[in-house]
Amino acid sequence: MRKVHLITFGCQMNKLDSELAAEALAAAGYALTDREAEAEVVVFNTCSVRDHAERRVLSRLAGLRSRREAEPEFRLGLMGCFAERDGEGLLARLPYLDFALGTRQFARLPEIIAGLYPGGRRAGFFGGREGEAPGVGRASPRGRHRGPQAFVSVMRGCGNRCSYCVVPRVRGGETSRSPAEVIGEIRSLVLNGTREAILLGQNIDAYDRGGGGLAGLLRRIDREVPEETGLVRLRFVTSHPRDIGRELAATVRELPRAARHFHMPAQSGSDAVLARMRRGYDRAAYEDKLAMLREEVPGALVASDFIVGFPGETEGDFLATLDLVERAGFQNCYVFKYSPRPGTPAARDFPDDVPEGEKRRRHREILAAQDRVNRRRGDGLRGSRLRVLAEGPSPRDPGRWIGRTGENLICVFPPPETGGDPAGRLLEVEVLSSTSLTLFCRVAGEAGREPGKDAP
Ligand code: SAH
Ligand code: SF4
Ligand code: F3S
Repeated sequence: MRKVHLITFGCQMNKLDSELAAEALAAAGYALTDREAEAEVVVFNTCSVRDHAERRVLSRLAGLRSRREAEPEFRLGLMGCFAERDGEGLLARLPYLDFALGTRQFARLPEIIAGLYPGGRRAGFFGGREGEAPGVGRASPRGRHRGPQAFVSVMRGCGNRCSYCVVPRVRGGETSRSPAEVIGEIRSLVLNGTREAILLGQNIDAYDRGGGGLAGLLRRIDREVPEETGLVRLRFVTSHPRDIGRELAATVRELPRAARHFHMPAQSGSDAVLARMRRGYDRAAYEDKLAMLREEVPGALVASDFIVGFPGETEGDFLATLDLVERAGFQNCYVFKYSPRPGTPAARDFPDDVPEGEKRRRHREILAAQDRVNRRRGDGLRGSRLRVLAEGPSPRDPGRWIGRTGENLICVFPPPETGGDPAGRLLEVEVLSSTSLTLFCRVAGEAGREPGKDAP
C-alpha cells in the first residue's frame, strides 16, 4: 500500500475536499498517513485567495525538492484552487512537481497517482469541468469521517463576481446539490457519529434545488434526519448580505437544532469601497440585514469578514469600517489585507495603492476593535449558563475540553468526571471567566436541545 500525505491550505471547502480525496484514496487501496516523512506521495490541497496562501505552498514545495530528487519513489502533487489557477505554469516552472489537479478533478487522484508508478512519468495538469469532483452529482461516501462535526457541501462554485475575488474563476459557477444527496450524506455521517452538520457554500443563500431555497433544505433535513438519529445541530456558511432573507432567518428561529449564528461578511463599511468591490449592497442595506437577523432570531450572533487596504481605500473609508465593527457587535471578524489576484477586475482596473504598512495598521485596528467587543461580551456572560457541543481536548491544553455554543462561542472546561467520552455530548456549562476568544467554564450538567427557541 502506498502511503499518501495530504496537506491542506485554505477554507472549509478545501478541508472538505481533502477529506473526500482521502476517502477516494482509501477506497482505491492507498494508506493515508499524518506523517509527511513516511509518505511516498505528498499532495498539497492549495488556496489562491491571497498571494500569501500561494507563497506558503511554494515554499513548502521547495522544501521537498531535494527529497523528490533523491528518492526514486517519492512524488509531489497539487490539487485545489492554486492548481486550478496556475497548474500548467507551475508544472512548467517546477520540474520536480508531478501533477496538478484542479478543483473539480480530485476524484481522479487515485488514478493519477497510480499512473505515476512505475517509472516516474509526470502526470501533468488536469483542470476545468471534466471529471467533476464527488459531492456534485452523486452522494459521497463519508465512512472515514470521525468527530462530532462534519462539513457537507450543499453547493459548489460561486455565481457572484466580487471584483477582488479569485474564487469564481478557480471554483467555477454555482451548482447546487439535490436535497436527496445532501440528506443521504448527512445520514451516512450521522451513522458514523456526526452530531453537527456544517453546510457549506460560497454563497449558500443562492441554494436553488428542491424548492424553498436554503430554508427549504433546512426544513427537509430537519424532517428527514430527526434528532433521534443523533444529529443535534445544523449550521451553514457563508451567507451573502444581498441574498440572505427573512424566510431563512425565520427557519433558523423555528428549528430548534439550527444554530443561531450567521457568517455574513460585510467586507467594508464604506459605500464607495463596497461599490468598487461590486458586492451588490451598501452599508445601510448591510445594517438592515443585521437588524433583520436579530429581530427574527433573538440572541443570534453574526460573524463577518473584512478586507482592509482595498484600492483607493481612504482613511475615511477605513474609519467607516472601524465604526461598523464597533457598532455591530460581531461574534468574530476575519480581517484580510487586500491582495491583488491575477485575472480579477480589481487587479486589472485599480492600482494596489494602499501601502503595506498602512494595510497592517488598519488590519491591527479592526482586530483590536473586535477584541474589545469580544471582551465586553465575555464579561457580560460571566455567571450565565450556555449549552455547548463538546468537541474534544483543547489544542492548547489537552487536560481541558473545548466545545462551541450554537452562537459559535468557544468554551473551554475541565471534562466532566462521569459519563465517559464527552466528545459529541451536549453539555450545560457555566461561564467563570473569559479572554477575547475563549470562555472558561465549568460543566454544570447534561443539556437537552438547543435553548431559548420556539417549538417548531
Ligand atoms: N464566499 C465567501 C468567502 C470567500 S473567500 C464570501 O463571499 O464571503 C474568504 C474571504 O477572503 C472573503 O470573505 C474576503 O474577505 C477574503 N478575500 C477574498 N479575496 C481577497 C483578496 N483578493 N484579498 C484579500 N482578501 C480577500
Ligand atoms: Fe468571492 Fe464574492 Fe463569491 Fe464570496 S461571493 S466567493 S467573495 S466572488
Ligand atoms: Fe477556499 Fe482558497 Fe479556494 S479560500 S475556495 S481554498 S481560493
